[in-house]
Amino acid sequence: MRMYDVITKKRDGKALTKEEIDFFIEEYTQGNIPDYQASALCMAIFFQDMTEEERANLTMAMVNSGDTIDLSSIEGIKVDKHSTGGVGDTTTLVLAPLVASLGVPVAKMSGRGLGHTGGTIDKLESVSGFHVEMDKDEFIELVNQNKVSVIGQSGNLTPADKKLYGLRDVTATVNSIPLIASSIMSKKIAAGADAIVLDVKTGAGAFMKTEDESEELAKAMVSIGNQVGRRTMAVISDMNQPLGHAIGNALEVQEAIDTLKGEGPDDLTELCLTLGSQMAVLGNQAQTLDEARSKLEQNIRNGNALEKFRTFLESQGGDGQVVEKPELLPHAKYKIELPARESGYVSGMTADEIGKAAMHLGAGRATKESEIDLAVGLMLNKKIGDYAEAGESLVTIHSNQENIEEIKETLYKNIQIQKDSVNKPKLVRKIIE
Ligand code: URA
Ligand code: CA
Repeated sequence: MRMYDVITKKRDGKALTKEEIDFFIEEYTQGNIPDYQASALCMAIFFQDMTEEERANLTMAMVNSGDTIDLSSIEGIKVDKHSTGGVGDTTTLVLAPLVASLGVPVAKMSGRGLGHTGGTIDKLESVSGFHVEMDKDEFIELVNQNKVSVIGQSGNLTPADKKLYGLRDVTATVNSIPLIASSIMSKKIAAGADAIVLDVKTGAGAFMKTEDESEELAKAMVSIGNQVGRRTMAVISDMNQPLGHAIGNALEVQEAIDTLKGEGPDDLTELCLTLGSQMAVLGNQAQTLDEARSKLEQNIRNGNALEKFRTFLESQGGDGQVVEKPELLPHAKYKIELPARESGYVSGMTADEIGKAAMHLGAGRATKESEIDLAVGLMLNKKIGDYAEAGESLVTIHSNQENIEEIKETLYKNIQIQKDSVNKPKLVRKIIE
């Protein structure tokens, strides 16, 4: 087989066979196909698209390019959740204990964050003593015992995706539905998921800016999952503003605790119940989404979800007392208010720019080597549709530096206020089963 012929075939709009896709992925991963030929193929895929079958074959070729995690010794259906990237997205911290409290095993492999705020592990490390260093046997035992555990990423998962993503990034071929869908799905499958729930964000702060594009991506991923024997469902959710109120590591842990108690922000609660219902159905703990939702709501009301969070934290060395004493979480030295300069309704909050402001406070990493400050971040006191009097606080800035004029200016620039009233955006736009 010659790479030249594979490129020609795709350039001319024909579908590639499984053998051709396997050849490309194997040989590219090995270093036997040069970057210039791989980028020509990515560009051909960008313009000519791929059939559903090609997308599934590309996904599995990438899964098979490296290690895969075998979670078969965990009882039950392992359902994983993936979000296409939000700002202040606290859903994982809430969902893991919430669905585990229903008996769905959550075996989460997670990374540290880059940009915006920390990753799930960074956030959890704001609980004193919590750690993710353990061997795989211990991890599996914890999931069998408590139904939930989080471990750091290890192994050489989907090396083909790492290499291709780097190439796409510099050849203007990131934004291609078949390439994004196979990239995301290959990572979830390699990490051992039996079933997958996807939270595809849409709007100004998201990777996909329009609802149509987001839906196309969601459908592409659901189709791949179902073709390769991993039941998959998706939610399209709004990312025109950050989710919930908290952006920052310890602040988000606090927000997750509030939500598990039934006292969290409405939007975060709604998204967690929607995604959690899909996870419970795919994990065979409920027959319908409605039944799943009422079971989840019950476990919030009766305290089981919060108790599961405590057990989970303690099982990995964390101080479980934080669930009733959030003052044990790290706190920033200064709490600085951002007063509204004029009265009116909040009409826009550019999620990614606000996320960057939190990163500049120290809540996220500008580079892989940056140290993260777990205590700092933003609490949004107003969201789109809310009214603010002049002088009322829009944001409480939790900072360890006193002089943050630049950050305040960034926030003012990215929170729009107008005289006319504004509707609150609909959070859950679509459910794809
Ligand atoms: N995120 C991924 O993991 N892969 C892509 O291709 C795009 C976003
Ligand atoms: Ca949040």
